[in-house]
Amino acid sequence: MKKESDLLAMLQGNAENGAYPFHMPGHKRNTTLLGTELPYALDVTEIDGFDDLHAPSGILADLQARLAHLYGAKNSFALVGGSTCGILAGIASVCRRGGRILLARNCHKSVYNAVELLGLRPIYIQPPVDPVSGIAGSVPPESVRAALDAHKDIRLAVVTSPTYDGVISDIRAIAQIVHGRGIPLLVDAAHGAHLAFTEQNAHCAVTCGADVVIQSLHKTLPALTQCAAAHIGGDLVSPSVFAKYLSVFETSSPSYVLLASVSACVRFLEENAENAFAAYAERLARFSASCLELTNLFVLCKGQDPLRAHPAFFDFDAGKLPIVTARTALDGAALCKRLRREFALESEMAAFSYALCMTSVCDTDAGFLRLLDALLAIDRAVSSRTTPDFGTPPLPKVRLSPYEASLRAARTLPLHACIGKISAQTLWFYPPGVPILVAGEEIDETTVQLLESAALNDITVYCAEGACDSPDALTVCD
Ligand SMILES: Cc1ncc(COP(=O)(O)O)c(C=O)c1O
Repeated sequence: MKKESDLLAMLQGNAENGAYPFHMPGHKRNTTLLGTELPYALDVTEIDGFDDLHAPSGILADLQARLAHLYGAKNSFALVGGSTCGILAGIASVCRRGGRILLARNCHKSVYNAVELLGLRPIYIQPPVDPVSGIAGSVPPESVRAALDAHKDIRLAVVTSPTYDGVISDIRAIAQIVHGRGIPLLVDAAHGAHLAFTEQNAHCAVTCGADVVIQSLHKTLPALTQCAAAHIGGDLVSPSVFAKYLSVFETSSPSYVLLASVSACVRFLEENAENAFAAYAERLARFSASCLELTNLFVLCKGQDPLRAHPAFFDFDAGKLPIVTARTALDGAALCKRLRREFALESEMAAFSYALCMTSVCDTDAGFLRLLDALLAIDRAVSSRTTPDFGTPPLPKVRLSPYEASLRAARTLPLHACIGKISAQTLWFYPPGVPILVAGEEIDETTVQLLESAALNDITVYCAEGACDSPDALTVCD
């Protein structure tokens, strides 16, 4: 590694070179005054020699070229506003106000925010739900074809792969269909930055030919929270238009601490990916083999639960561990609570019928063993019971676009009085941030029942203003 391409080393050098900062940030790197817990010494702005993220020509241009080389992309961007800013920029760089967009219904709320901001008119594909776990499955390529046939004015298709839960879609097939209509495909791969370095590398959306791929480096790779990457491929999306919209949705004062973390992540991948990911694959394989001992709980696509038992999944990310409680008297929240209280294990998310544990290349043998021991102990103690299969929920009827709904006067009504009315709010569970109901849609009985059972199961429902304390009332359009 050349010293001048190592951003962290440059920042460390700058902290020690004696130059006095008559510039932002306001902490002035005064670690004597402030203490050294936070990385003040490294936190600079675009001072001479440190390039400019929004017009890179030096060390940051070099960092982005290295990112592009790692993933085999034509153009890559380092992001410090999470995947969120990349998704907003990606959609804005393709869609024009009021245009049509094709979305997998299980897209993240950042996609829905772009739809509302740009006044877009969404067409949805509802992925089939896995009946055992209740997890949304892969986006069937044939549904993409059918939607494009039915709506010739669609300008962009957006799917998530892998999803928060780990479900992978056939991006290669979807890209071929979408490209056949001359329009681009944006893949929200917020949870897929690691795939390129695993045995499942064929599923990396960049390799599969997607035009815009957004990845949260911070979710599945060693990078600080908010570090992300965007990759542009093909000729359907202009990198310079994408850069223009990034400068709209990303801060004009990007953190060099975060950029140094992107740089350190890239260096880790350049130097250690092969060995580190081989060791990670072995850990996952050993964990999967040990899951054969579970009798009531099971880990999706591990141990005795093969991928072929889930026809709704094209493939499944080996690093995600949804621990399914559907055959036990526990629900996902109760399992998370037991893991936390009895075993000091913090899981990523509780859903109705599973607890999601996320792993990464940075997990240790000891960590995997602790999880396994805890699962075996809970499995022995828990009584078995079969909960009913999950079905694919029908899509609510779209009455207005989210933007049109935002222009209407609104009032709040008790939950049951809302049936048949148009929602003024978008509601979601967080995590994963996938909407239950989108502003402009008709509120039906299924949605009301879902909100009631979320309340019963201690699962928080969110809207744009934050957590809905008691979702026993909704805001509807007049
Ligand atoms: C599928 C998906 N897309 C996008 C995002 C946004 O990513 P970030 O938090 O990096 O902005 C998330 C965050 O949880 C997500 O789960």
